[in-house]
Amino acid sequence: MDARDLVRSVKVVGTARGLRSLRSAWRRRRSDAVGLPRRGPERARVPGPVRGADPQPGGGVVRFARSSLRVRVSAGGAVFCGWDGAEPEPSYALEGPCPDADERVRLEPDTDGGWRVVSERVTVAVSRTGAVEVRTPGGVVLRRDLPPRWWEPAGGPGAEGAPGNGGDGAPGNGGDGPRVNGADGAQVNGAGPGGGAGGQAARWEQRSQVAADARFFGLGGRASGPRLRDGTYRLWNTDPGGSFEPGDDPLYLTMPVQLVVADAGTHLVFHDNSWDGTVTLREGEEGAGSGHDRPGACRTRMEGGPLRYWVIVGPPARVLQGWAALTGAPAVPPSWALGYHHARWGFGDQEEVRRVVAGYRERDLPLSALHLDIDHLAGHRVFTVDTARFPDLPGLAAELRRGGTRLVSIVDPAVKAEPGGAVYDSGSAQDVFVRDSRGREVRGVVWPGEAVFPDFTDPRVRKWWGGLYAERLEQGFAGVWHDMNEPVSFAAFGEPTLPRSARHALEGRGGDHREAHNVYGLAMARAGYEGLLELRPEERPFLFSRSGWAGLQRYGGSWSGDVATGWAGLRASLSLVLGLGLSGVPYSGPDVGGFTGSPSPELYLRWFQLASYLPLFRTHSAIWAGRREPWEFGEQVLTHAAAALRERRRLLPYFVTLAHEARRTGAPYARPVWWRWPKDRALRDCEDAFLLGDALLVAPVLEEGAVRRSVRLPRGRWYDTATGRAYEGPGRVVLDAPLSRVPVLARAGAVVPVAGADGGVELEVWTPVRGREGGGTLVLDPGDGWDAPETVRFATRLRGGEVVVEREGAAEPGYPVRVHGRAPEERPRQR
Ligand code: GLC
Repeated sequence: MDARDLVRSVKVVGTARGLRSLRSAWRRRRSDAVGLPRRGPERARVPGPVRGADPQPGGGVVRFARSSLRVRVSAGGAVFCGWDGAEPEPSYALEGPCPDADERVRLEPDTDGGWRVVSERVTVAVSRTGAVEVRTPGGVVLRRDLPPRWWEPAGGPGAEGAPGNGGDGAPGNGGDGPRVNGADGAQVNGAGPGGGAGGQAARWEQRSQVAADARFFGLGGRASGPRLRDGTYRLWNTDPGGSFEPGDDPLYLTMPVQLVVADAGTHLVFHDNSWDGTVTLREGEEGAGSGHDRPGACRTRMEGGPLRYWVIVGPPARVLQGWAALTGAPAVPPSWALGYHHARWGFGDQEEVRRVVAGYRERDLPLSALHLDIDHLAGHRVFTVDTARFPDLPGLAAELRRGGTRLVSIVDPAVKAEPGGAVYDSGSAQDVFVRDSRGREVRGVVWPGEAVFPDFTDPRVRKWWGGLYAERLEQGFAGVWHDMNEPVSFAAFGEPTLPRSARHALEGRGGDHREAHNVYGLAMARAGYEGLLELRPEERPFLFSRSGWAGLQRYGGSWSGDVATGWAGLRASLSLVLGLGLSGVPYSGPDVGGFTGSPSPELYLRWFQLASYLPLFRTHSAIWAGRREPWEFGEQVLTHAAAALRERRRLLPYFVTLAHEARRTGAPYARPVWWRWPKDRALRDCEDAFLLGDALLVAPVLEEGAVRRSVRLPRGRWYDTATGRAYEGPGRVVLDAPLSRVPVLARAGAVVPVAGADGGVELEVWTPVRGREGGGTLVLDPGDGWDAPETVRFATRLRGGEVVVEREGAAEPGYPVRVHGRAPEERPRQR
């Protein structure tokens, strides 16, 4: 118990929950004391000198004295590297079977005694000591992974066949790990994913170099970003407790995927390993032409599990497309989920819910969904209703639905451990709850009190859990909000989660919480998604989840979690959304106004305006925090929030289009400004604006008191959508940002599908630059089912000073066209 733990326990002790969480923390400690292998003496190992290679389709296996490396380039260009016999499967991240190998390429000897694979999009060179370089087809090095290093139990399980420990010191691989002790070793043959059932896991470390000008992004949802600055980022899904601010790390949704953007090219690296670990990043420095550049550095350390990773190379859009091809296309939310949502922890009863919804209606503020938090449950028990306060939930749901508002329900994984409770009884009968190393149910503490945790890594348990959503559908809920699934178990000291020694099925392979922790939320999302799909096959499920891992997008989106109310929290919420998008999860958004306390009217409004351009647009707050309805902050805020809501409704066809494009291409709706211009270094460092699709650049106000702000423009012509005035990028402009709106710019030539006054789709066309073609896409809302949506493509150009809009495959655009923006020298006329 460190000082922080002590403070935490003093804070909570005295309340019933405090005592329970003290007991649970002790239990957790005890169970790990008996259930986890004790860390004994370790031996370090490096691959040692190369011995030969076995070429195979897509690459092959390079053999070293004390390890082996499989390199496999897939047909789509993604590169897989697996050390010590690690294969791409099994994997929680991959959507389906591992992609086919590129049959045209094989390992071939390299000039320096190493081996290489040369494919169309990427060259992979493996050195004699096991360094791996990923190069562009032009030969520029994007990433150099130094030979890895393992620390494995000396003489313990796994030592057999892996006795070696490199005395030959891999370059750059020195450092603070255990001493390399011992002599030469025998060859390692396929030790396989490390840390099998209950054994002491082999830890490993990999150091890498990237270009001196490279910038790092990704690693899931991080509060300080989106550019990940020098520091150590932990890979362990964590509820920070209370609330978080920039600087708090890790948060709820981590994943070992980084996007590295440099002049030479962009690449993504994904270490397919769900164990606890860290990524330490250090940006490089350029020697200002002196030739003494210091490369950027990255060190990945894992506490166990396989050393295997994927690299995808190409422009950002292609990299994200490759990532979606590997880990699955993002689920498309039903279009109502692209409207505005209101949530609160602590709606007292169904009358209060009615009053809030009526408040929106009276003021003519569109409200798509209202979320019910744990307080509508009976004693916080999942899949129940407190019928004293919500006597007729199905009736309420139907009534709200008639007015255009759907209900969304929170779903927490923890089940109150109480014989007689329907969910507990049915779960116990089917043996679905996580057990400790001695076979006893693991008991933790969450909102309902003492609780047990379904093992979502078991397909049988997922099926059982998915069936429980029938109750939510009967209550009239249209979608679900998964929470507390890191998973959280309140602890007066130590980690607020399950014991690391807790046993998990891991799809039949068996293992413990060290491996299952980070995929718990992902597996829960799968259970919920598949359950909803089976129960209501005609509708696309709506699900978003606080925790998750690589691949979460297949089932739904995420949200910021408990972001602290304050200007720093506002910035963190943008960082989270952009970082998640670059990690493959395109649908997310913050708690507008922040989770805690009461925002000033100005802060609330700026948050509202920002989120009105983000995929998930939701106000939410804690039970002890102030209200978040737009009319609670005075007339002026109400007027401007209403304008933001109307604009969101007008942009709905564009959001629907972006949602389908995300599914088709993996591109997030909200993208960093460098998305199409990754070589523009100033854009790589720009963190206070973002692109919404290809057409719009949103420059939210993130500073108190600001009524103007400077905006960095990418190349090309951009129109201030408020004034129609044109600006030429690249460069900086200062734009008005009165309280009534935040600056939004439109790209010359863009076609933005919007809702017209009658609700029908119209095309908002921004005058193209002379001699340049523009264009855009419209994906028509196919409804909430599975019909394939119709996609319409448009091209725009200036002809004789006139804006021409052409629809692919048709003579006429087919939708009303409104032309905007005018360059000083051009007078567009509409045709
Ligand atoms: C967690 C969630 C928050 C929710 C609360 C009560 O703190 O992050 O959104 O309101 O639990 O369920």
